[in-house]
Amino acid sequence: MAGGLAISREIAALSSRRSGLARARVPFWNGPLGRIGRTLRNAGRRLGKIGRSPGECRAGRGGAVVDILLVTGSTRSGSTNTAALRTALAAAPDGVTVALYEGLAELPAFNPDQDTDSLPAPAADLRGRIASADALLFCTPEYAGTLPGSFKNLLDWTVGGPEMHEKPVAWVNVAPEGRGNGASETLRTVLGYLSTDIIEAACIRLTVPRGAVGPDETIEDPQVREGLRDVLRTIAKHVG
Ligand SMILES: Cc1cc2nc3c(=O)[nH]c(=O)nc-3n(C[C@H](O)[C@H](O)[C@H](O)COP(=O)(O)O)c2cc1C
Repeated sequence: MAGGLAISREIAALSSRRSGLARARVPFWNGPLGRIGRTLRNAGRRLGKIGRSPGECRAGRGGAVVDILLVTGSTRSGSTNTAALRTALAAAPDGVTVALYEGLAELPAFNPDQDTDSLPAPAADLRGRIASADALLFCTPEYAGTLPGSFKNLLDWTVGGPEMHEKPVAWVNVAPEGRGNGASETLRTVLGYLSTDIIEAACIRLTVPRGAVGPDETIEDPQVREGLRDVLRTIAKHVG
């Protein structure tokens, strides 16, 4: 984790320069107080005292417990990766709320000069969505042996903020067996640098052939649906 440590130091220096506060890198919501806060918030949700935000899809009737943000790495219409995540919206088990982040194509090219307190609106929105989620689930294609540039750009916008620090994360690889490994490996590297909490048991391959994507851009295959539900359950259990 030497690389992670190095980048943490860089982020600390950046935050310090930006706000003049050396302790700004890890805000209270990612520290012990934040964990207590999340526990209280979840308890409140269980009691139905706190509503969900717009765009969330609630599954089950027992009330929301764990919020999972779904992030696709593909900008392509008819994308198998986005279809898998759209399917997860409908497949969420009881006690889990899921929301799909759909701003990938709107993010400007990352520029450190703009990584200031007044971020470009799409980047601020992204960081806000990440901050308010309990966990993230990624689904990305592989381009030229690595992550698509637009998706790496999304990840770059998160480097300067504290939102990804210790955030529980997982990914589903929808490529056929033997393909897409470069994407998963690179994603693991980047998420390691970001000091996220990788939920190994939820990082799986669930192949989705292009022909499996229906006209509503979801996947009918019950095995895929059940696989995605299992992933969400595993994430929810981890977040607890
Ligand atoms: C520019 C480009 C580069 C690609 N490079 C790879 C690659 O290196 N390895 C691979 O397994 N697939 C590669 N593919 C195939 C895509 O990963 C595959 O088509 C995938 O289904 C795209 O995801 P989507 O359906 O969510 O858009 C590439 C596709 C494109 C458009």
